[in-house]
Amino acid sequence: MSDSQSQHIAKSLVPDYIRELQVYQAGKPIDELAREKGLTRISKLASNENPLGPSPFAIREMTNGLWELHRYPDMHAYKLKTALSELYSLKRENIVLGNGSEGIMAYISRAFIRPGDEVLTSENTFIGFYILSRSVGAKLKTVPLTADYKYDVMAMAENITDKTKVIYIANPNNPTGTYITKAEFDSLMEHVPEHVLVILDEAYFEFAKDREDYPDSMDYRYDNVITLRTFSKAYGLSGIRVGYGFGNEHLISNLNKVKLPFEPNLIAQLGAVGALEDTPHLERTLKNNNELYDVTFKYLEEKGFKPIPSLTNFITIKTGTEEASNDLFNLLLEEGVIIRPLRANEMPDFVRVSIGTKDEMNHFFEAMDKILPNYDKKHGRV
Ligand SMILES: Cc1ncc(COP(=O)(O)O)c(C=O)c1O
Repeated sequence: MSDSQSQHIAKSLVPDYIRELQVYQAGKPIDELAREKGLTRISKLASNENPLGPSPFAIREMTNGLWELHRYPDMHAYKLKTALSELYSLKRENIVLGNGSEGIMAYISRAFIRPGDEVLTSENTFIGFYILSRSVGAKLKTVPLTADYKYDVMAMAENITDKTKVIYIANPNNPTGTYITKAEFDSLMEHVPEHVLVILDEAYFEFAKDREDYPDSMDYRYDNVITLRTFSKAYGLSGIRVGYGFGNEHLISNLNKVKLPFEPNLIAQLGAVGALEDTPHLERTLKNNNELYDVTFKYLEEKGFKPIPSLTNFITIKTGTEEASNDLFNLLLEEGVIIRPLRANEMPDFVRVSIGTKDEMNHFFEAMDKILPNYDKKHGRV
């Protein structure tokens, strides 16, 4: 079959809203960079992962689970749901699990959004959500961030219409690291009609929870809010894909109908149970992050950048132009440091750096010290 014939077939089979989607671009994998450049020292600061790795408790549970791999997973994920319900004083019926929190976003899109429904969110937020809601034919409506890179909740409230089905809020937001406060959340919710579903994406919750004015969604029980959290960030389990959501049990029961029965898989369920038991690992993670966030923020300021204050495990900085972002990314890559340019987030004049270990951040600082003199000259920063 010729290429044009197969293109024609795809065109007739695939709806426009799918054909128009762009494939998600992940951070560059370490192995790929090692292969391409023959480097041995590589620091991946591109995907907001936990630089300390998984909890040893999680590894123990997953290793034991390998002997059960001939069995299907527990489709009710009894142990994991029980652990979560005890931790957050919830009923198991209020909890949904998925292949990462993105897996749950996919269930929400499948269960609640019909082609043509309006989905309201911000510009410059998590791309995964844009893709998932578009993939079910939603009409995406976005409002710009405020001048200090925060969700503009009042502008969002003003943009709610009769057609609005879902509002998506990442709090804190990726890629800016900013957050909406309790007062902002309250004022938004005053304007949200009951029939509009609010997805509160708290992927970075553990990093934010101790900030006094951060609205912990456990303190709010709105029937039209579903909160999403993940084991991919502070719990260090991105590789096994496990996330959880909680909300009103009538919504959750419908998500369970569209969910693939055996997600998350057996190893993912066990790893998450182990991770929840390991409070010291979580504390070490937060301590490492807090300390190195401060050091990195100060370093970037000293080098004349304007980092955006962040309540997460990453920092976003303005470079000024797309070319400057690409140069910074490519020059750091040559030194074995992987950061994230933000063109896909429609912030081409920004880059994002995840907080790593002390050793990884020193690698980043050394690499920056080496490349900045030429970079600064080229981009008129001196
Ligand atoms: C705001 C936000 N939500 C969701 C996710 C996806 O997390 P998960 O690995 O649980 O699918 C990410 C990952 O980067 C994120 O930044």
